[in-house]
Amino acid sequence: MSSLQSLAAAVLYILPAYVANGSPVVGVKLIGRKTPIDRGARAWDGRRVLGDGKTFEGLIIGLTMGTLTGIAISSIISPSLYRSLIEPFLLSLGAMLGDILGSFIKRRLGLQRGQPAPPMDQLGFAVFALLLAFSLYGVPAWADLLTIIALLTVTAFLHVGTNFLAYLVGLKPEPY
Ligand code: CTP
Ligand code: MG
Repeated sequence: MSSLQSLAAAVLYILPAYVANGSPVVGVKLIGRKTPIDRGARAWDGRRVLGDGKTFEGLIIGLTMGTLTGIAISSIISPSLYRSLIEPFLLSLGAMLGDILGSFIKRRLGLQRGQPAPPMDQLGFAVFALLLAFSLYGVPAWADLLTIIALLTVTAFLHVGTNFLAYLVGLKPEPY
């Protein structure tokens, strides 16, 4: 595989994590129901455990849409990319857990919901998605160090770009 082919495989592979990370923004807006995962609870520092930006509805939407994305990729584009259909689910779960952990850290640092925390906002979900999927299914053939670095770089730019677009069309109150 050339390095460009590896990067293409990498972006296709991680797509369920992107969809898991992005779909709650649209989904929660559409259904209009928001149940915070922390149910309003505060941590030892008096601040919210996670904040209103992490909801059960968003979690379910992200897991479902991410997993469906992987199933679509497997059946339409690349049948051998995932070693099991559990793998896109793990990518989605890792993305959601990484995002939730990010909010937990942000609240402990005293950052309000929606305040930026680069590069955690852009990369935390992707790193967690890869860690979870790789730890259960092993490191895929395309995943050498350079490809992973390129993938995370592409991910950061895509995250900034798509979040800015979501802000422009009124889906997000802030552009990050
Ligand atoms: N979202 C959700 N549930 C999740 C993840 C995301 O409902 N588990 C929705 C929320 O409406 C959230 C939006 O997606 O506001 C954007 O997600 P994100 O940028 O991760 O959250 P922030 O609002 O920026 O909050 P935080 O500062 O905690 O990251
Ligand atoms: Mg945010």
